[in-house]
Amino acid sequence: MPIQPLLQTIRRRLTALSDTPYLDAQVLLSHILGQRRSWILAHPDPTLTAAQRQNLTRALHCLESGTPLPYVLGRWEFYKLDFILTPHVLIPRPETELLVEKAIAWLRDNPSRRSCADIGTGSGCIAVTLAVNVPGAKILATDISPTALRVAQENAHKHGVEGQISFLGDNLLASVAGKFDVICANLPYIPTSTLKTLAVYGQEPTLALDGGPKGLRLIQTLMADLPRSLSPGGLLLLEIDSSHGPEVRRMAQKTFPQADVQIHADLAGHDRVLAVQTT
Ligand SMILES: C[S@@+](CC[C@H](N)C(=O)[O-])C[C@H]1O[C@@H](n2cnc3c(N)ncnc32)[C@H](O)[C@@H]1O
Repeated sequence: MPIQPLLQTIRRRLTALSDTPYLDAQVLLSHILGQRRSWILAHPDPTLTAAQRQNLTRALHCLESGTPLPYVLGRWEFYKLDFILTPHVLIPRPETELLVEKAIAWLRDNPSRRSCADIGTGSGCIAVTLAVNVPGAKILATDISPTALRVAQENAHKHGVEGQISFLGDNLLASVAGKFDVICANLPYIPTSTLKTLAVYGQEPTLALDGGPKGLRLIQTLMADLPRSLSPGGLLLLEIDSSHGPEVRRMAQKTFPQADVQIHADLAGHDRVLAVQTT
């Protein structure tokens, strides 16, 4: 079948499942064909082999039974880098790119400060992106999930930055002794009762999403540990739920009374990243 009718057929099957069914159809087909999206649009008549047709049928069944596209593909793009994904890790979100952008800018402005920590690393998207973009950075990536840590390690290897990142299975900073110039974390922040009403519930790991009764359980615990782990003059960057801005600002001001505390909005204008520049 020529490419356009095939794309339209896939699009129709994905319409009820996605806000971007045509884009998803292109991404899926380019994955099946092992080509870039621009290639499939420039080659209107590729012939799918029997194996490719079978893979396409299988992928569409997975999508129709509720598996998110990134898990079907086994990979997803974050900050222009390609990450290996399994259902054991959160699918990297574009909002998290804001946190990474702030961390990279700070590290470039402070060339003598290179020790970083990424708490709750998941796929490793934050740690690996920092390592790729700031070659001298040394990063500790932690997660309480051993299966997530394995995915993060694979991603570090894929991008050739395993020498810059050490991995640790830990409950937040519980067994971490050193101090860091930059601490980044995108911890679970969805209140338990809200999570159960969302489409992501059961599709992505609950361990990566459930932030306890008010969504702030892990952030509060981490905040209490930070004074011993953040170097003087260091930077804390935390991704937050859009409704948590005022509360996390209060927490940060209480923990670091001398610090410059800011909340940055994402592209949709929602509070998204807490930045604490200590003195
Ligand atoms: C929201 S996901 C973020 C993953 C990744 N950093 C990202 O931005 O896509 C949160 C991660 O924190 C981990 N996590 C949950 N509780 C934790 C804890 N007590 N200590 C360390 N990591 C934890 C989860 O396993 C999950 O990988």
